[in-house]
Amino acid sequence: MSVLSAVPLPFASPRSPSRRQAEDAFLAAHPSFRETGLVDVLRETEYTQLDASGQVYLDYTGGSLYAESQLHDHMELLREAVYGNPHSANPTSSAATALVERARRSVLRYFNAPEHEYACIFTPNATGALRLVGEAYPFAQGDRFLATFDNHNSVNGIREFARARGARTSYVPLRRGDLRVPDSLLERYLDDAATGCHNLFAYPAQSNFSGVKHPLEWISLAHERGWDVIVDCAAFVPTNRLDLSVHKPDFVPISFYKMFGYPTGLGALIARRDALGRLQRPWFSGGTVVAANVQGDMVVPLSGHALFEDGTVNYLSIPAVEIGLRHIESIGIDRISKRVEMLGTWLIEALQRLEHSDGSPAVRIYGPTRWDRRGGTIALNFLHPDGRVVDERFVDRLAAAHQISVRTGCFCNSGAGETAFSLSRDTLIRAEFDEGMILDDYLRLIGMPTGGAVRVSLGLVTNFADVHRFIEFAREFRDVTHVPPGLPPRLAC
Ligand SMILES: Cc1ncc(COP(=O)(O)O)c(C=O)c1O
Repeated sequence: MSVLSAVPLPFASPRSPSRRQAEDAFLAAHPSFRETGLVDVLRETEYTQLDASGQVYLDYTGGSLYAESQLHDHMELLREAVYGNPHSANPTSSAATALVERARRSVLRYFNAPEHEYACIFTPNATGALRLVGEAYPFAQGDRFLATFDNHNSVNGIREFARARGARTSYVPLRRGDLRVPDSLLERYLDDAATGCHNLFAYPAQSNFSGVKHPLEWISLAHERGWDVIVDCAAFVPTNRLDLSVHKPDFVPISFYKMFGYPTGLGALIARRDALGRLQRPWFSGGTVVAANVQGDMVVPLSGHALFEDGTVNYLSIPAVEIGLRHIESIGIDRISKRVEMLGTWLIEALQRLEHSDGSPAVRIYGPTRWDRRGGTIALNFLHPDGRVVDERFVDRLAAAHQISVRTGCFCNSGAGETAFSLSRDTLIRAEFDEGMILDDYLRLIGMPTGGAVRVSLGLVTNFADVHRFIEFAREFRDVTHVPPGLPPRLAC
C-alpha cells in the first residue's frame, strides 16, 4: 500500500484504549517515571502553549523550550529598575554590571566551576565561543589540531584557523554501527601530540547527530599527553549534569537557548583561566582593553573574561540566564536526565520493533540502539519494504501535517553523517561541488541515498504523549512503497 493517497490518520486520542494501554505498559516497564511527575505538572502550568496548539516538539537538540515564569521573571526584573550600558560607572550602568556579574557567577556555580580556576565569557552562542578559541589559539608550524569525526561544523571550522597558521589537522574516525570512538584508537591519535608545541583536541560530550556520549574521561587522557581540550557541551548540558570540579576541560562552549529556551542569542565559553592565558587574540576592541591610543600605537589588553567580550555585552538578556538556570535547578537536571532516558529507551525500542507486513525493518537507527552511554538525540531513517531509505523531505512533510517538529538533514555534523552513510574519503575527494550545482546534485554525485537522516530529540519537558504520538506517526511508514514526486529541491544541508 502507498501512503500517498492516504490522508494522515488521526492519532489515537489522549483517552483512546491504545494510548492508555501503551502508557500502562510504559509505566510498568519504567515505574520510577512517576518520580518525574513534576515535569508533567510544569507542562500543564508553564508550557501551556505546547498542548494548546497541539504541537509535538521533538527538536530539543535544536533548541529547548521556555517556561512562562522565565519570561515573567525577566520582564519583572527589567521593569523594576533602570539599566544602562555597563561600560560606565554611573548608577544605571552599575546596576547592569551587577546583574551581568551575578549571572556570570551563577553560570560558574551551576557547573560547579571554581571561580579561581574558571572564567565565564558571554558569547552570542556556542559557535561564538568556539570561534573565540579557534582564532586565538596560538597555532603555529608544527602544532596539532585533532578532532573526532563526530563534531558540529562550528568545531570543524577551527581547522581553517589551524591550517592557515601551519598546524597539522587530523580527525579520529568513528566506528561504523555505534558511531563511537574506541578508547584504544583515540589514545593512538593522542599519542601523536607534538612535543614542545601547541596541541588542541576537540570533541563533543554528546553528539548532536547520534546522541552518543563520548567519555569525559578523555579529558585527562588528553591532558596527560600534552593536549589542550575543547569539550563541546552544547548538546550535552541541556539534559546532563556537567561538574567542572570533577572533569576539567580547558574550553567548554555552550548555548543557553539549548538548555532552557530563552533567551536566544546568548552562549558562553567557560574556560580554565590558565588556558585562557595561552590564547592570543588577533585584535582588540571596545571593552577588551585597559588602554589604547592611536598616535602611540599602544594597546594594553584586559585579562580574564573581559579580554574576550567584544563591545557591549547583551546586558539586558544576560540576567535571563540566571533565571533560566534557577528554573532548571528547581526541576533538577538529574530528574530531567532520568526522564529523557526512560522516554528515549521506550522510543528506541518501539522504533526497532517497527516492521513492514513482510517482516522487513521499517526504521534504521544511526548510532547506539540500546540506552547505553547515549542521550535523547536519535538519528534515523524510515525504510521502504525493499530497504530503500524514505526521502527525508517526505518525512518532513508528513510530520508537519501532524504538527510534529523534528529535524532532517545532516544537522551540521558532517563527519557523523559521512560515517552513518558509509561515505568514503575517496568518494568525497573525487566529488567536486561545481559552480551552478545545488546540494541535490552534489548528494547524487557522492551517492547519498537521501538528503540525510531524521533527528528526533527529547528534552526538558518531553512527555509520554509526545513520544507516543511520534511512534503512531512512525507506524504510518509501514508498507509505504514510494513517495510522491514534486518534493522541494534541497538547497543547503
Ligand atoms: C554539539 C553542538 N555544538 C555546537 C552547536 C552550535 O550551536 P549554536 O548554533 O547555538 O552556536 C550545536 C548546535 O546545534 C551543537 O549541537
